Amino acid sequence: MAEAGSVPTGSSPTDTGDTAPRGDVAIPPQPEPQELAELAAGCAEEVGKRIRTMREEGVRVAATKSSITDVVTAADREAERLLVEALTRARPEDGVLGEEGAGVIGTSGITWVLDPIDGTVNYLYDIPAYAVSVAATVADPDAFADGRRAIAGAVYNPRTGELFHAWHEGGAYLNGTPIRVVDGAERPSLAHALVGTGFGYTAERRKEQASVVAELLPQVRDIRRIGAASYDLCLLAAGRLDAYYERGLQPWDYAAGAHIAHEAGARLLGRDADTPPGEPLLVAAAPGLAEELRATIVI
Ligand code: IPD
Ligand code: CA
Repeated sequence: MAEAGSVPTGSSPTDTGDTAPRGDVAIPPQPEPQELAELAAGCAEEVGKRIRTMREEGVRVAATKSSITDVVTAADREAERLLVEALTRARPEDGVLGEEGAGVIGTSGITWVLDPIDGTVNYLYDIPAYAVSVAATVADPDAFADGRRAIAGAVYNPRTGELFHAWHEGGAYLNGTPIRVVDGAERPSLAHALVGTGFGYTAERRKEQASVVAELLPQVRDIRRIGAASYDLCLLAAGRLDAYYERGLQPWDYAAGAHIAHEAGARLLGRDADTPPGEPLLVAAAPGLAEELRATIVI
């Protein structure tokens, strides 16, 4: 299965993963995905407001990761700590996986996948395109490259006040109003598409990405590199980008945003028909355009 948009979602709220204990151990009752989405939205908004306040007080690089430009601020760490605290208080049986190292093994079958500040470089430079991304995921080996699939998620940009959230078969919302990708008769051809993408942090990865963009740019309306993958996917969901692709995304970059885009009608594709979206490639756009874009990207 290589297209998350067509994954048999079949998961009733009680059929949510592989880490739930079996045998005579009681499986905790599972909440509705809508409740999880509301929890995700509340946490993303609260923590987002906190990191915005922290940014106004000044920003400090605490460490670097994969390269000298891949930074972690004190706010990334504080935001992840606050998210883990809030989620484990609300749902102590769940697991947590966070970009800055959070790793909690749960027993409920649900794992929260967190990007405490997606768009850290924008945060550093005070560019108003960063977000807190929170997704409730369940095991699904075929859906995404990391073997998990979101059933609810939220992305909050504290500089714009935009709160995106979605839940399994419940649709996608921006500040409570339903959103959809540009689709049907409105859907542009690739030549008219505004395409978002992003770049990794290592020089080697960037060389590959630059050659892909060099081929693609003459074939589309234009390219946007906004700087926060979760937010890019939400802009696609809201019809403000026509398509998005990136090579080398991590689960926390896409878990919530890809779910929101999917619930807004986007198709999510991997590198080819046999490869699920995620690493090495995630392509997202309205059905038809997603396939056209994938066929044009050579990685
Ligand atoms: C990055 C952003 C960026 C994308 C990179 C990500 P971070 O996440 O989402 O837009 O191009 O691939 O690593 O480091 O800001 O959390
Ligand atoms: Ca990220």
